[in-house]
Amino acid sequence: MSHLLYESVDLLKFSEESRYKFLTGSVVPRPIALVTSLNDEGVLNAAPFSQFVILCVTPPLLGIVAQTTPAGYKDTVRNVLRSGQYVINVVSEEMAEQVQQCAIDYPSSVSEVEEVGFSTTPSVTVLPKRISESPLQFECRLHQHVEFGAPGSQTTLLVGEVMLVHCAQGVLEGHRVNHEALRPLGRIAGRSYCRTGDTLSV
Ligand SMILES: Cc1cc2nc3c(=O)[nH]c(=O)nc-3n(C[C@H](O)[C@H](O)[C@H](O)COP(=O)(O)O)c2cc1C
Repeated sequence: MSHLLYESVDLLKFSEESRYKFLTGSVVPRPIALVTSLNDEGVLNAAPFSQFVILCVTPPLLGIVAQTTPAGYKDTVRNVLRSGQYVINVVSEEMAEQVQQCAIDYPSSVSEVEEVGFSTTPSVTVLPKRISESPLQFECRLHQHVEFGAPGSQTTLLVGEVMLVHCAQGVLEGHRVNHEALRPLGRIAGRSYCRTGDTLSV
C-alpha cells in the first residue's frame, strides 16, 4: 500500500479569502439549495447556497449557512429572519447557468427569479413561491438561527423545518429519490460544477 506525503497547514495563517477558498474547495462536491424568500415589499428573492446540510431527521431539519457581507446580512437572511418562511429548491444540472446568475448582487428590490427567467409555482404552507424548474422543493419554516464567527467573518446558520416537499414526476419512487430523474448539480469551487451521472457501487 502506498503512503501519501502530506503538507500540513494552519488555516489561521491564511488570509480570510484564502481560508474561505480552501474550506469550500475541500468540502466538495456540495449540493445547492436555491432559496426563495420574500422581502418586506413582497419581491421574491432567489439565492444559491452550497453550504447546505441535513441537520435532523425527526423533525426534518435542513441547514444553510450564509456569510455576512460588509453591508450586513444577505437578503436571504434578512428575509428569513423577518418572515420565518422560505423554500429550498434543489438545483438540477439544467439550472446551472441561471443559478450562477442568481448569485449576482442585485439590489433587494430586484427579483433574481424574474431577472434570470425562472418560472414560479405557489407554495402550500409558506408564502414564498417555489421555482418551477426545480425537481424537488422543500417548503421550510425557520426553526432557529445560530450566529458564528469572529468580527469581520460572521456567518449565519439558518435551520429550517421542512413543512412539505414537492417532487417532480419521476423523482419520487416509493419513499426513495430517483437520482437519474433528479439530476442534481454539485458545486466544486467558483464556477466549477459537477454532475452525478458517473456513479460507483461498492
Ligand atoms: C452555486 C453557489 C453557491 C453559493 N453558496 C453560498 C453559501 O453557501 N453561502 C453564502 O453565503 N453564499 C453563497 N453563494 C453566494 C450567494 O449566492 C450570493 O452572495 C447571493 O448574491 C446572495 O443573495 P441574497 O443577497 O439575495 O441572499 C453561492 C453562490 C453560488 C453561485
